[in-house]
Amino acid sequence: MVKFGIIGAGNIAHTFCRAIEATRGQLEGIASRDYQKALLYQKQYGIPHAYGSYQALYNNPNIDCVYVATPHGLHYEQMMEILDYGKHILCEKAFTLNASQAKKVFEKARDKGCFVMEAMWTRFLPNIKHLQNIIKDGVIGEITRLEADFCFNAKIDPTHRLVNPSLGGGALLDIGIYPITFANIFLKTPDKIESQVEWYKSQVDISETLTYHYPNAKAILRSSFNSELPIDARIYGTKGFIHVPNFWSSEESHIYDSNHALIESFSFKHKVNGFEYEIDETIQMIEQNNLESPIMPHSETLTILKQMDSIRNAWHFEYPQEKRK
Ligand SMILES: NC(=O)c1ccc[n+]([C@@H]2O[C@H](COP(=O)([O-])OP(=O)(O)OC[C@H]3O[C@@H](n4cnc5c(N)ncnc54)[C@H](OP(=O)(O)O)[C@@H]3O)[C@@H](O)[C@H]2O)c1
Repeated sequence: MVKFGIIGAGNIAHTFCRAIEATRGQLEGIASRDYQKALLYQKQYGIPHAYGSYQALYNNPNIDCVYVATPHGLHYEQMMEILDYGKHILCEKAFTLNASQAKKVFEKARDKGCFVMEAMWTRFLPNIKHLQNIIKDGVIGEITRLEADFCFNAKIDPTHRLVNPSLGGGALLDIGIYPITFANIFLKTPDKIESQVEWYKSQVDISETLTYHYPNAKAILRSSFNSELPIDARIYGTKGFIHVPNFWSSEESHIYDSNHALIESFSFKHKVNGFEYEIDETIQMIEQNNLESPIMPHSETLTILKQMDSIRNAWHFEYPQEKRK
């Protein structure tokens, strides 16, 4: 039985608490900077222990794995501390602000013999796994173009973490990571990246269009907090194309031939909300004493972060934590 503790009683921790019900995992503790918030979570989900500090949760010897559900600007310091307590980690995306931080976390995790994984839940969805198989089998021929959009009008509160540079704000790390992940799943690392960016008044990116260039294909990836577009992806090949609605939390796909005639649709409904698959993987890896998952290996987290580093370098955009170096 793998027992989880959660740090950060915010929005995404709810999704985790609901999903774990459908797995063999068990919630053992919830920690908040505000003890009253932790108590509310404890009551809502029947969690054995509530804590008013993250360190108090780390001190619970029964907790095997900490789910890090805090803003990504804090992940690096928090994971380095959690590893001092010898706990395994499932950490929300973006894993860290940059590849250099992630590398240090992975090195320390290996030294400590701890499992660590980025909670990029999209990679574990049955629909995405099925898509990988049928594309490998040539259902649409060779991929020539991929488009993925994660854009919505966030009606931004200027004090929210989404636009706070100290907390890792900005569209690229928060939602741009999904189209980037989708392109990497199906086309791997590009030869060249071009980008256009729009800035928010707090000096974080609010909207971007990325063009990933491959030898025989191109990916157009859009992410934005200030425009509405369907959260959709399309993969075009030499023999047809595939439409993946809501690709980041994908439950269905539709295959078309090159005359735009629908050939086949398939559907894989989540058991709960889709987080159950990454939780299942975490449990299995810990039970088998694996330090990383083959579905979300450390190398993939580093690859994606390096791409985001290079995009931000081209924009001359550093986070405050990076400037202090
Ligand atoms: N996988 C997904 O689909 C998905 C969706 C949304 C978000 N996320 C990721 O999950 C992480 C958390 O996002 P969220 O939407 O849950 O954020 P959120 O609602 O703002 O909650 C984050 C929590 O972090 C804790 N925290 C600790 N220090 C903080 C500080 N200085 N400022 C603000 N909060 C602080 C707070 O919990 P306490 O006050 O209880 O300590 C807060 O409630 C982010 O990395 C985000 O990218 C993933």
